Amino acid sequence: MLNRFNSITAKFFLILVPTIVVTAALFLVVYVYLKNKDLNTVLNDRISLNASLHANAVAEPLWTFNYDAVKQTIKTILLHPEVVCAEVLEPDGKYVHSWPEDNCTQVFGEELVHTDKLTLHNQDVGILRLFYTKEEIYKTLTRDIQLAAILILLTIFAASVAAFIALSIIVGNPLAKLLNSIKNTKPGHMRPMVQQTTNDELGHVVDEYNRMIELEQSHINELETAREQAEAATRTKSQFLATMSHELRTPLNAVIGISEMLLEEVEEKKEEDYIEPLNRVSRAGKHLLNLINEILDLSKIEAGKMDLIPEHVPLKDFLEEVRSTSIPLADKNNNTFIVQCPDNIGSIFADPTRLRQIILNLVSNACKFTNDGEITVSVKNREIDLTDWVEFQVRDTGIGMKLDQTENLFEEFTQADSSTTRKFGGTGLGLAICRRLCDMMGGSIDVESESGVGTVFTFVLPSVGKMQYAK
Ligand SMILES: Nc1ncnc2c1ncn2[C@@H]1O[C@H](COP(=O)(O)OP(=O)(O)O)[C@@H](O)[C@H]1O
Ligand SMILES: [Mg+2]
Repeated sequence: MLNRFNSITAKFFLILVPTIVVTAALFLVVYVYLKNKDLNTVLNDRISLNASLHANAVAEPLWTFNYDAVKQTIKTILLHPEVVCAEVLEPDGKYVHSWPEDNCTQVFGEELVHTDKLTLHNQDVGILRLFYTKEEIYKTLTRDIQLAAILILLTIFAASVAAFIALSIIVGNPLAKLLNSIKNTKPGHMRPMVQQTTNDELGHVVDEYNRMIELEQSHINELETAREQAEAATRTKSQFLATMSHELRTPLNAVIGISEMLLEEVEEKKEEDYIEPLNRVSRAGKHLLNLINEILDLSKIEAGKMDLIPEHVPLKDFLEEVRSTSIPLADKNNNTFIVQCPDNIGSIFADPTRLRQIILNLVSNACKFTNDGEITVSVKNREIDLTDWVEFQVRDTGIGMKLDQTENLFEEFTQADSSTTRKFGGTGLGLAICRRLCDMMGGSIDVESESGVGTVFTFVLPSVGKMQYAK
């Protein structure tokens, strides 16, 4: 989330202000150092000037041992505010007089002392020692620092305000416009172009952004055209398939119907020579009809025309119906058909036609690939990831498959191996349809098999139905 504190302007500001403050502090330190040095030089000059100005005035009375006059002169030296104590000594260092303290060194220490030799007629007559203070310097320095600090603070403030305004105009505003354009695009609408206001890097970004919008729009237009074309093609395909399947099914049903009628007749008349050929005609017709139905189903799913009509399906009744349809199939290869299901299985919210189609597809496979064995359909409720599912299983004790044969089983037109088609017929579409239907109903399907032992197909569907309705 973008707010005032993590905007580019704020970040830049966070860098800028400390930099200015540190620079100003450094400047202040250098200023104080130089100013201090300067004031000290001035003070030293003043003290030595003072000393040399009064040297003669002290030397004269000292030469004549007029100590009262010495005292008077010392007092005048002390009129200068920076001098706090003055001391006169004889050339050999003997104490003569000091003012205002008796022992200047004891009171003021030896640190700030200016010593001058007193000479008269080229002869040393004594020593003048002036004790001074830096209080004045410190006062001046403090005042100057305060002034400088105020000036610096005012400058920082003014510079910050100016930088903030400049940044907002140069960076903040163009970026905000760009962001608004990106954010305020309504779905399905073209993004608005951003007006280019600067010719710096940001201006180039805006330029590129506008170019991107144009490119995006032209891609969208291309995709739109492609989609319309694809939709038109799909409509044509579906139309074609619907017409074709009708055209194919009508004569095929006639072939199957008439061949069965003839079969009944020749069976009655016991005309053995015709029974086998007529049987073949009938089987081939049914196979062809099944193939057409499967291709039509798959095309419908692919074209998104397979509409699911979900309803509450009581599973007990549903399985009874499956049993009655499956028993004749199982009987053909002398298989036993078993249904396993708990009494309180309840119901599932799903499309019963498609559910039946999946189970019967699996059962018909199981019956086809099993001889003298067992076909078991079992159903139970399961909870996976806190969701209720119904698990269906079709198990057989037939020929089974090797692991590599099961890998692409759910792809269209895939059979376990090429001999299957020769031996058992089939198209390789049944399982592909099963998987597509499971997907559409929000579930999934899986297989486990062992060659020579048998096969188990398991599919799960959500109990309450999460169907993706075909568009
Ligand atoms: N219960 C089963 N036991 C052994 N093989 C099976 C079984 N079910 C399916 N298969 C293998 O999977 C292939 C694909 O099945 P399917 O998609 O229904 O196509 P079809 O039944 O038309 O061959 C079958 O040809 C067969 O090789
Ligand atoms: Mg099949």
